[in-house]
Amino acid sequence: MTARPKIRLVVVAGARPNFMKIAPLVRELAARGCFETCLVHTGQHYDAAMSDSFFRDLGIPEPDLNLGVGSGSHGAMTAQVLAEMETVLTERKPDALIVVGDVNSTVAASLAAAKLCIPVAHVEAGLRSFDRTMPEEINRLVTDVISDWLFTSEPSGGENLRREGTAEEKIHFVGNVMIDTLQANLSRARELDTLGRLGLEAGGYAALTLHRPSNVDERETLVALFDVLEEIQREIPIVFPVHPRTAAAIERLLGGREPKLRMIEPLGYLDFLRLMSEARFVLTDSGGIQEETTVLGIPCLTMRENTERPITIHEGTNTLVGSDPATIRAEVRKILDGEAPEGRIPEGWDGRAASRIVDVLERDLG
Ligand code: UD1
Repeated sequence: MTARPKIRLVVVAGARPNFMKIAPLVRELAARGCFETCLVHTGQHYDAAMSDSFFRDLGIPEPDLNLGVGSGSHGAMTAQVLAEMETVLTERKPDALIVVGDVNSTVAASLAAAKLCIPVAHVEAGLRSFDRTMPEEINRLVTDVISDWLFTSEPSGGENLRREGTAEEKIHFVGNVMIDTLQANLSRARELDTLGRLGLEAGGYAALTLHRPSNVDERETLVALFDVLEEIQREIPIVFPVHPRTAAAIERLLGGREPKLRMIEPLGYLDFLRLMSEARFVLTDSGGIQEETTVLGIPCLTMRENTERPITIHEGTNTLVGSDPATIRAEVRKILDGEAPEGRIPEGWDGRAASRIVDVLERDLG
């Protein structure tokens, strides 16, 4: 009897928020034994702190290929990943491509596959901010329309896709792969001396991340944000691991005048998880952090006007505060006065999303 041929997949990751999403998928695919997986790193994020440390912390195998595209304008970066992925997919002829999230590498890789008639699985499909000035919103819309499996993480994902006319059989509610990674790593993170190293006490600080173009690309917005954050820091220390794009904006727009916050280098996955899990609250403009704080039960103030992850507001601990100093100040006040939302863990954010995704792929491709 001849052995059944393996199902051949290419999995793509490019930027920091992709790495924690592919980790449980790559592990689950390897465990099943019926898949042959080629892992491609596009190189969109390349710094040790933005990429290598995540592979190490999360036990992701060394990528089979690194396209080394690096930074560039959106068009240039997307075009380069598209061209490189076309070559990879033409040579490898996989049965399907798996992409995650909403970064430039996600849309570029899916476009390459769709043109070669290679089916695409999009993990974290259907999320919509309804704000097309946000680069990720364009990436989400395009990726979803050319994907064959749309794996959604919260009910709004399926609702958005149905409203856009997506065929019902393509939509699979599977839960949240990012939370698979959080659940798998929380106890390891709790063993780290992150707080001791940073001179912090549990519950005695706030954690901040900031990198979106809408917050950091204009001087006026950036100055107003730092003014209010410095004011809050007089009441509670704010620890701020600085994204390279934000470091560059501080240099360019503020002439290097550093805000008086506890600025540190970007942290690895486990250290940042530890930092979030013990914070009094988190201030962020990230997508994923809204979800992680919901699961950790830590209040999250999101410095954006909208979110593509509404369940973190309706069921979780998230509050939108935009970039208006008065709103930020008022919402921080509420938390410091003990009025933070309690929240609960959404359905399917249970550590088993990757397993549900691989079940569907095994059924459809086996
Ligand atoms: C990207 C994603 C965003 C995600 C974010 C998380 C898109 C459109 N955006 O934004 O959704 O939330 O990653 O980090 O794909 N840089 C370095 N070293 C690196 C990577 C970047 O110095 O390893 C600097 C470069 O100057 C680069 C800038 O950061 O130009 C921005 O990087 P880029 O990948 O274009 O977008 P992000 O802002 O990181």
